[in-house]
Amino acid sequence: MCGIIGYVGKEPAAPILLESLKRLEYRGYDSAGITVLNSTIETYKTVGRIADLEVVLPAEIIANVGIGHTRWATHGKPETRNAHPHLSSGVSVVHNGIIENYLELKERLIGLGYEFESDTDTEVIVHLLHYNMNNGGNSIDLLTAMRKTIRELEGSYAIASLCCNEPDSVVFARKDSPLVIGIGETGNYAASDVTAFLKHTKNVIYISDHEVGCIHPDAIRIYDLDGNLLEKPTEVIEWDLEAAEKSGYEHFMLKEIHEQPTSIQSTFAGKLMELEGTVKMDELYLNHEQIKHLRRATIVACGTSWNAGILGKYLFEKLAGIHTDIETASEFRYGNPVLCGEELTIAITQSGETADTLAAARSSKSYGCRTVAITNVVGSTITRESDSVIYTRAGPEIGVAATKTFTAQLITLYMLAIHMGRIRGVITADEAKNLIVNLKRLPGQIQRILSRKEKIKECAEQFADKRDYFFIGRYLNYPVALEGALKLKEISYIHAEGYAAGELKHGPLALITEETPVVAIATKGHTYDKILSNIKEVKARNAVVIAVANEDDKEIEKYADVVLRIPASHEMTSPVLSSVVLQLLAYYTALAKDCSIDKPRNLAKSVTVE
Ligand code: AGP
Repeated sequence: MCGIIGYVGKEPAAPILLESLKRLEYRGYDSAGITVLNSTIETYKTVGRIADLEVVLPAEIIANVGIGHTRWATHGKPETRNAHPHLSSGVSVVHNGIIENYLELKERLIGLGYEFESDTDTEVIVHLLHYNMNNGGNSIDLLTAMRKTIRELEGSYAIASLCCNEPDSVVFARKDSPLVIGIGETGNYAASDVTAFLKHTKNVIYISDHEVGCIHPDAIRIYDLDGNLLEKPTEVIEWDLEAAEKSGYEHFMLKEIHEQPTSIQSTFAGKLMELEGTVKMDELYLNHEQIKHLRRATIVACGTSWNAGILGKYLFEKLAGIHTDIETASEFRYGNPVLCGEELTIAITQSGETADTLAAARSSKSYGCRTVAITNVVGSTITRESDSVIYTRAGPEIGVAATKTFTAQLITLYMLAIHMGRIRGVITADEAKNLIVNLKRLPGQIQRILSRKEKIKECAEQFADKRDYFFIGRYLNYPVALEGALKLKEISYIHAEGYAAGELKHGPLALITEETPVVAIATKGHTYDKILSNIKEVKARNAVVIAVANEDDKEIEKYADVVLRIPASHEMTSPVLSSVVLQLLAYYTALAKDCSIDKPRNLAKSVTVE
């Protein structure tokens, strides 16, 4: 996720771009840059935040047109050469999204004589634009070239672009990444979200997929892909600036929960080969022979990432036939692990900076193990120290409680397991296809859960005054129970324990009373009957049972007091859906208790100390 802004008007462009970028900084903050246009085209960029960009700018910039970008790296490390805008002989581009076919386009453009300065996917857009503007000696305008260019792009994009021959316009295009136009009194804006220009105007036009257009100082034109001029309604924003930063959500956590249909799509973008029944994992530097001969994998992680790792263990064992251990990173480093060079260590860490996980990965490396990092932060420490890095591409997560990065980790683990399982011959192409189809269904299924969150809110409010909660699940739903309990305790301060449902009778059952809500993840699968028995056990001790169950399950109503539904789904992928329900349960419980949701007491987003 990145933030883009374009401005054309009567005011000096640079201060407007900088201020807008500061407002968009929540979308990414590893590097930033602007291009402004006067008699010449001037580009300034740097690694770091917008404050760092301000330092490298000249004291006075005379220009009324410009584009800007704040980056959350997906392709290429956070380095100045990878920062946007990207340039191609007088054309400048900023982009938010992922160009999936960039390697193929890059090869073609290199063949045409273009030189690449960055490792980004975005640079193909600017060279392609330049090529299309000048192809065959017939020069066409930037807008026409943009229409031509986006027909060749696969993936997601919100693009703003300008060129030195057209000094009073910024050209834009959109597919699967947000883009909104601001209609100002002294100029017009194109941005990733309204926050960028809300100080100047509340009148906006939302751009839809496959639309292109241009803003001028006193005009806005929007077209479809065939060049037909569109008439789009102007809407008036009713939020204030603070609300807008969270896109109207009360908290970042709620916003991030709602981003999951998109963040999951970004995580698997370009990787799921449904027809072949394979997953593309170019980042994994293990050849087929090495994967075939893997004897063991060890997953090291902390907190939510550790919970994801438990699901990873089950997936690797079932789909890839690899014996897998899951280790708490802070414990692993002080134990005596028996490891050897034929093994794989997978470090899961959203931030890539968790001290315990880094230390565990280093320790594995010292035994000669190959290391794979699964992380959300490009250029983080874990990425520099691991043999292979798989990015989760969930976009920046501001809320301390991990939500969208957790589900992105799960998706990555499914993909890794399918990839290795196919190579090792543990699952067939048809089995893999079936799983891929079900992974692709997840964004839509999550959307359905989100659209009916009111029931979860009611349930949360009903039990918000309880002191203790239990979360139980079996097999794939065990990590879901652990994560549900972790979410609830960290943001609502209610004591919550996640348990493998079969373990309750070995001790914790003594704690169950009518005052203890028990959340049972009771989705359809081969342990369904077993969890029903566990539900009966706690019901017999008068507990209130909140079940998470599939929409088509009528049976569960006989046993549970409250049923929170997920769409009918494949047993293997349902943990992602149940997790979203439990994130909302935790969120609304904390909201009912008026807790500090985005910054819970005593916690930090990334724990960089031992
Ligand atoms: C998640 O909600 C927590 N804030 C925490 O458990 C977190 O998952 C843990 O600190 C590990 O962080 P990492 O993924 O950045 O390594």
